[in-house]
Amino acid sequence: MRSRTLGRTGIEVSEIGFGGWGIGKSMWGKTDDAESMRALHAAWDAGITYFDTAYAYGRGHSERLIARLFKEKGKPATVSTKIPPKNMEWPAHPWTALEVAFPPDWIISCVEKSLRNLSTDCLTLEQFHVWTDTWLKDPLWPEVAETFQRLKKAGKIRFVGASLNDDPNSALELVRSGMVDQVQVLFNLFDQRAIDKLFPLCREKNVGVVVRCPFDEGSLTGELRPDTRFEPEDFRSHYFGGDRLGDTCRRLQALEKTVLGAKAKNLAIAALKYCLSFDAVSTVIPGMRKTSHVQKNVLASDGQYYDAEELKAIASHRWVRNFYD
Ligand SMILES: NC(=O)c1ccc[n+]([C@@H]2O[C@H](COP(=O)([O-])OP(=O)(O)OC[C@H]3O[C@@H](n4cnc5c(N)ncnc54)[C@H](OP(=O)(O)O)[C@@H]3O)[C@@H](O)[C@H]2O)c1
Repeated sequence: MRSRTLGRTGIEVSEIGFGGWGIGKSMWGKTDDAESMRALHAAWDAGITYFDTAYAYGRGHSERLIARLFKEKGKPATVSTKIPPKNMEWPAHPWTALEVAFPPDWIISCVEKSLRNLSTDCLTLEQFHVWTDTWLKDPLWPEVAETFQRLKKAGKIRFVGASLNDDPNSALELVRSGMVDQVQVLFNLFDQRAIDKLFPLCREKNVGVVVRCPFDEGSLTGELRPDTRFEPEDFRSHYFGGDRLGDTCRRLQALEKTVLGAKAKNLAIAALKYCLSFDAVSTVIPGMRKTSHVQKNVLASDGQYYDAEELKAIASHRWVRNFYD
């Protein structure tokens, strides 16, 4: 497993990280804790040193499983967790007041809950779980920023980040402001928007970039079919509802012709390598609940990524659509 530096935090993180939403047992259908623990152990054993989670992933369930992994391994790795918005609204709307989403007492209580769930005295990286740049102009913003400073001084958090709305341009002002050390952004072979402004800005400001949803919630593994059906409690029954999965699968054949070859023999590896082809990216965090998926995905970290000419060809497959709506 190769590693990269997470921006100005200076922390070395594995190129493939662990996406911990699915193991939280919320919104992903049936999930078995024993299988999730095996996947976490496989990730550690394969050299994964970055684990992404959130309080919202099963009201701390994902955090607690990761804490259990560290206990069983005898030491911690780097974890990023997230403060949910108090109004539990994703994505963030520009008209929502900061008082409604991230009042200071809510921030403090969420930090305390995550500290307990992760069995630690200090959170390495605490992120806003949603963001809109209009909050920088909200009258409450100075107090919110000050709350994070006080939490840092008290030794409860080390670094601050933000997990962005699906639009990667929704936090450019936040990055410019110097408030965050890291951003987490949706980026994959279809949704390539982060290349346009966010990646160059993060490089300029030395802000770490964590890439999420590298598989477009599964389609870019090549393992879903137009007739794949999800359990009603799996959010993908909506995400890939109607003919959305059919539309998506129809594009995969052409995409595979472009990305498969000496560097990637299957679509899942191509999808991860695509994300790692950009210097701005520190780590990519596929969601994984199965050991077999972990073992397959870690193979993507081999230093053989797409070059400028290949990326130009891949650019023609850009397809921006918001299936979360
Ligand atoms: N707003 C936010 O902050 C936000 C939103 C979304 C995601 N995230 C973070 O980003 C992470 C990744 O995003 P995601 O989990 O939503 O989507 P994703 O990584 O695009 O896709 C996850 C799906 O891919 C499957 N998969 C993984 N490796 C595979 C392989 N080699 N072959 C076939 N299938 C494979 C997983 O199956 P199994 O689960 O069965 O292994 C899961 O169904 C999350 O876990 C979370 O940490 C954050």
